[in-house]
Amino acid sequence: MSIYRTILFAPANDLRKAGKALMLEADGVVLDLEDAVATSEKRKARITIQEALNLPHKGRVFIRVNSARSNFILGDLLAVVGSSKIDGIVLAKAESAEEVRWVDWLITKLEQERELPKDQLELIPFIESARAVLDSYVIASACPRVHRLFFGGIDYLLDICASYSKEALFFARSQLVISSRAAGIESPVDTVYPDFKDIEGLVADARLARQIGFQGKLVIHPGQVNPVNEVFMPSADEIEWAGKIISAFEEAEASGIAVIQIDGKMIEYPVVNRARQVLALVASNQK
Ligand code: COA
Ligand code: MG
Repeated sequence: MSIYRTILFAPANDLRKAGKALMLEADGVVLDLEDAVATSEKRKARITIQEALNLPHKGRVFIRVNSARSNFILGDLLAVVGSSKIDGIVLAKAESAEEVRWVDWLITKLEQERELPKDQLELIPFIESARAVLDSYVIASACPRVHRLFFGGIDYLLDICASYSKEALFFARSQLVISSRAAGIESPVDTVYPDFKDIEGLVADARLARQIGFQGKLVIHPGQVNPVNEVFMPSADEIEWAGKIISAFEEAEASGIAVIQIDGKMIEYPVVNRARQVLALVASNQK
């Protein structure tokens, strides 16, 4: 299992930023055809993106297409499905499972038309409205191409008429984590933190997201990549603690005991299994 600790956005029509983003330490990059591109530039951006896709890259590459209800969806998909450089399509403002299935159908038809391998592209619904949050379980279950959800906190807050705060985001964040789990897909990736000069605030926000079950965070600026990568990897203390409780528990279990204490904390099966999850995550990221 490899996770996306950071997914960095860059406007698809800004080759300088796109080129830079593709070579940073983000686990993935999204070249954006939606909100980061002015309406008047949408069609031109589909041409620039071909140049961006020919640049060298380190992590995985995704394209964010305009919403399924926009006038741009068909042209966007025609422009990018078929590039061997991309790992998936991010669907902006996904509102319903039906809409996700339309886009899945369009991608499948393009794959057939262009004689591409089947179902290779991941489809990532961007959950960014009240309706989508409430329907996130059916959206997460919409089709086998959906392996994870992204949370678009800024548009969601606009929709519910609230401002950026952990309180305003809490319900939606937890809903996405629970919906993803219930649908049997990967953990979701948390919203961008727009104040890119405030690294302390970013780290606190990312820590909260990790604590409640997100696998990583969307980022918008190079300066956000390393701090967020660090948050989403277990710290040296966490790794040491996990090792300590696993070995103490295994010793106890061998003599028929299933509940022990270490440093005043109760250790039982779920705690040990969580510690194993932490070590598995570290091991998978070292591969
Ligand atoms: N990817 C790659 N490089 C980026 C970048 C990004 N997302 N954001 C900034 N940079 C680069 C800049 O090009 C600049 O590089 P340079 O000095 O070599 O020219 C350097 O990092 C410093 O940038 P800075 O001056 O601090 O910011 P800026 O004014 O150039 O850009 C934003 C600020 C917010 C416009 C920019 O970060 C951005 O476009 N982010 C992505 C926005 C986006 O895609 N939004 C949609 C999803 S929510
Ligand atoms: Mg948006």
